[in-house]
Amino acid sequence: LTLPIPLERGGEQTLQEQIYRFIRDQVLSGGYRNGLQLPSTRELAEGLKVSRNTTLLAYQWLASEGYIETRQGAGTFTRQVISETVERAQHGPPSSSSGERPAVVLRCEPPLLTDRVAARAQFDFWYGRPDPRQFPTKIWARLVAESLAFARSSLADYGPQAGNLALREAISEYLSTARGLVVGPERILITAGAQDGLNLIARLLVEPGVAVAVENPGYQAAASVFRSYGACIKPVSVDGDGVLPEGLEGIAPKLVYTTPSHQFPTGAVMTLARRQALLASAEALNAYIIEDDYDGEIIYDRPPLAALAALDQNHRVIYVGSFSKSVGAGIRLGFLVMPPELMHWATGLKSLSSYGQPWTEQAALAAFIREGSFRTHLRRIRTLYRSRRDALITALREWLGEDADITGYESGLHLVVRLPAHLPNAEQVSAIARPLNVALYTLVAAGAADLECGNPDDRCLVLGYAALTPEEIETAIRRVARAVARGEASP
Ligand SMILES: Cc1ncc(COP(=O)(O)O)c(C=O)c1O
Repeated sequence: LTLPIPLERGGEQTLQEQIYRFIRDQVLSGGYRNGLQLPSTRELAEGLKVSRNTTLLAYQWLASEGYIETRQGAGTFTRQVISETVERAQHGPPSSSSGERPAVVLRCEPPLLTDRVAARAQFDFWYGRPDPRQFPTKIWARLVAESLAFARSSLADYGPQAGNLALREAISEYLSTARGLVVGPERILITAGAQDGLNLIARLLVEPGVAVAVENPGYQAAASVFRSYGACIKPVSVDGDGVLPEGLEGIAPKLVYTTPSHQFPTGAVMTLARRQALLASAEALNAYIIEDDYDGEIIYDRPPLAALAALDQNHRVIYVGSFSKSVGAGIRLGFLVMPPELMHWATGLKSLSSYGQPWTEQAALAAFIREGSFRTHLRRIRTLYRSRRDALITALREWLGEDADITGYESGLHLVVRLPAHLPNAEQVSAIARPLNVALYTLVAAGAADLECGNPDDRCLVLGYAALTPEEIETAIRRVARAVARGEASP
């Protein structure tokens, strides 16, 4: 360990002084954080090819002025120095700067997910969150360890650009049995989750001014990606059968973003007739359909549905898969099933942007699917989440009456409830809930509606239930119901 100190030998300053100034400046500017361990005087002397005496004297000088300290048996560490210089370095541009900077050209609205972690309430009905306690940690640890044992050069080398072949094969097999989608691994591209997949598609196909149809209400993070590449977003209405193909007429979209298995957020399942109509429209309009199957694995009251892509005879559908809901968003793995003509470009783009996902996680996930643990895990969480969903429906009916307007509960990790007219609207109810440590989400707060796309339904709440126990759900909804009733009673 050494430090990159550019020494000028034979210059005006002694070597000792140059070492002293370099470290002092780093401490003052905040470049070296408080408590950073420095190399020993011997290591530094060897690294810089100077005498030990030189580094020793420089360290003594720094210590005497309070920039560093030596802890017996532990080493030498920087110390916190609060000064105007540090403040300036951290909080403002140098005074000689004009303040002007090159313009950022990306039109970027970050999705709501990232800010959420910090603000979590005790009873948080955030919509897409699997229960962190259900992550298959033990199996995952074993599979990671086994993968590492067989890694050979895989961790040192770049992997295939489209992703780990074993994982693509495992996904290919899974899709054919679970989703009726028969595709070889040569059409599968591994991504860092659905969002990465959407970004890749947008980068391939969207240029400024291109029309992209998105469901309304719909997943705003998708619209934001398309918008960031200059797309002209065209909201298309949805009904109980999914997105309305007639809404595409007159728009001439190049891409149609949909969530056919569990429309986000309404939960509508696209009927076969609607799927066929949508495919026909895409053909007539020469558009690609994006099928975002973000939570299609988690189904309760009906048999699994064939993917829209499985019905597609003309390679109009780009299928977006993700393991965020079924396994956990932290593993950051998903995939795209690409029409053959796009695969070459998509693979090229993948290497242009990242050269792929971490090998160990891909290998572990491939083994997780292959050995059957994925299916076992799915069976287990379906049973568990079903009981939570039932608890939420029961609690909502207790509050709102037996005929409460609840939709989208046949699958996934969330449902939508429409508050009756005699209650305050969704925003007011979530404001009442907040001090009770209960987080409820309106369409806008859930990232499911955009004010630019017309007035979102202000009576709908999008409620995720998977990460809460039935008891937690009951307690939270009763708490809110009582508070709303009290609020109603007061003048
Ligand atoms: C509709 C929809 N699509 C995609 C995603 C993003 O998933 P991923 O974590 O795989 O990027 C989400 C996340 O909640 C989602 O709700």
